Amino acid sequence: MTESVAHLSREEKQRLLQKIDEQEVRNCTQCTLCQSRTQTVFGEGNPDADLMFVGEGPGRDEDLQGRPFVGPSGALLDKMIVAMGFDRQQIYIANVVKCRPPQNRTPASSEVKACGDYLLRQIAIIKPKVIVTLGGPAAKLLLETQTGITALRGTWHQFHGLGSKRPPIDLMPTFHPAYLLRSYTQDNRRKVWADLQAVIERLKK
Ligand code: URA
Repeated sequence: MTESVAHLSREEKQRLLQKIDEQEVRNCTQCTLCQSRTQTVFGEGNPDADLMFVGEGPGRDEDLQGRPFVGPSGALLDKMIVAMGFDRQQIYIANVVKCRPPQNRTPASSEVKACGDYLLRQIAIIKPKVIVTLGGPAAKLLLETQTGITALRGTWHQFHGLGSKRPPIDLMPTFHPAYLLRSYTQDNRRKVWADLQAVIERLKK
């Protein structure tokens, strides 16, 4: 991690994030996903957010627009955000990988490894109070675990990736909106809503 990020203003955080996006991510060729992308999708939202969502990687709509969660999964995520009492301007949204995996496949571990440092640096700058990971890859990367999302979700975990000198960040894993759309059962919806309600309570502290 190169940036010194103690007590940064919102403007300074924005400037640092923009620098990583413009000088590193947009022209990144660290893995082969760069060959099939239309453009990179860095992430967006409030650089000083208390709440950060981390998804898997851009899909078709995101690859075309250069923005995270703007397709069908994004529409559901927007509803979740509003139901929590927020809007997109108040929170930050990023992904594990910044380029679309072909056919929306799960990113390979080599791709996550090549790209994951960008996400860690985004988190180090934003320093949210709570991270919500959406789906398996984000939880696995940030919790350094191989445990599946069904076992991880619904309980609080801690993100220790900022190093031993910085406090860990509370992390709630939940199902990915794309999974929810595929399996739109009352049970799954209840589970995700319970996870998000726990997040609302934690943010009040
Ligand atoms: N799915 C993700 O994980 N991220 C996006 O940005 C869009 C869909």
